[in-house]
Amino acid sequence: MNKTDLITNNLNLIYIILLNLILDMIMFKDKFKEGIISARDFTRDDIEYLLKKAREMIRNHNKSQLLNGKILATLFFEPSTRTRLSFESAMYRLGGNVIGFHSGDVSSIKKGESIADTIRTVENYSDGIVIRHNLEGAAILASKFSKVPIINAGSGSGEHPTQALLDLLTITQEGHELDGLNIGIMGDLKYGRTVHSLAVLLSNFDVNIYFISPKELMLRHRDKDLLQLRNVKYKEITKYRDILNVLDILYMTRIQKERFADIEEYERVKDAFIFSKEDLVETKDKFRLMHPLPRVTEISPEVDDSEKSIYFKQTYYGIPMRMAILAELLLN
Ligand code: CP
Repeated sequence: MNKTDLITNNLNLIYIILLNLILDMIMFKDKFKEGIISARDFTRDDIEYLLKKAREMIRNHNKSQLLNGKILATLFFEPSTRTRLSFESAMYRLGGNVIGFHSGDVSSIKKGESIADTIRTVENYSDGIVIRHNLEGAAILASKFSKVPIINAGSGSGEHPTQALLDLLTITQEGHELDGLNIGIMGDLKYGRTVHSLAVLLSNFDVNIYFISPKELMLRHRDKDLLQLRNVKYKEITKYRDILNVLDILYMTRIQKERFADIEEYERVKDAFIFSKEDLVETKDKFRLMHPLPRVTEISPEVDDSEKSIYFKQTYYGIPMRMAILAELLLN
């Protein structure tokens, strides 16, 4: 091959790579133009695209001016530390601005206004809306009434898709491949919205999942049905110690006290699992302990100092992932 042919071939290759990048971007933006509502809407390509975009944010030290002049509204009808503040931090780090409220008590919902009317108002003040609500259908309802993208920041016991996306970023950034992953998901699998979204996102990969919970708090049938449809290898168990040595990741969750109709049922299961320093002895070198937080008693504080405990690093990965999401959804 002569020099001219070599240059032509290289230029063609660069052209194809650029064209693919632009096509991926257009396809993602078009698919998610109404926002991010459910993990069920994501294919493996969609997830890998966002992971790539989040890694670009990390490489740029989470600094950008991509959303200069844009406004994000954060409407939180339920308490939050990580999700609201990381979305707001992500927006500022992209050069944008934020408006919003952190409790339904300080919005006109308190006066009887509907979610639909709130959304039809706030869409005029912002370029995108992040919503957390105690009703499972709140985010999808909001998306039906909104001209601007809606991002589900937690809908009752239903879903928390952006948490699951940052969880996958954490797993991959901390040295694990998603294909071939042995992951235990433990705690409140019935009411825990983060695990519903996580299980669904993981079902796009070749994973082995151990669902560990008291019998009363097992994964919902609707999620298990999807996993079966996608031929995901999973087991449901009630004890974790026997499988600690096979796990790459143990993803723990809080027992969701606020979702129980019967407080006595909560009292029966609240201390079902308490991960302690002794449990770490059984684990592989590359084992990592995750938790979406907040934690209550399910991880003993003495475990925090271990390099295998990555739940606070996990909070950091919320920034690049949410920057990637906002940049994709809010940039025209
Ligand atoms: N992980 C999570 O959703 O935390 P917050 O409730 O603090 O937002």
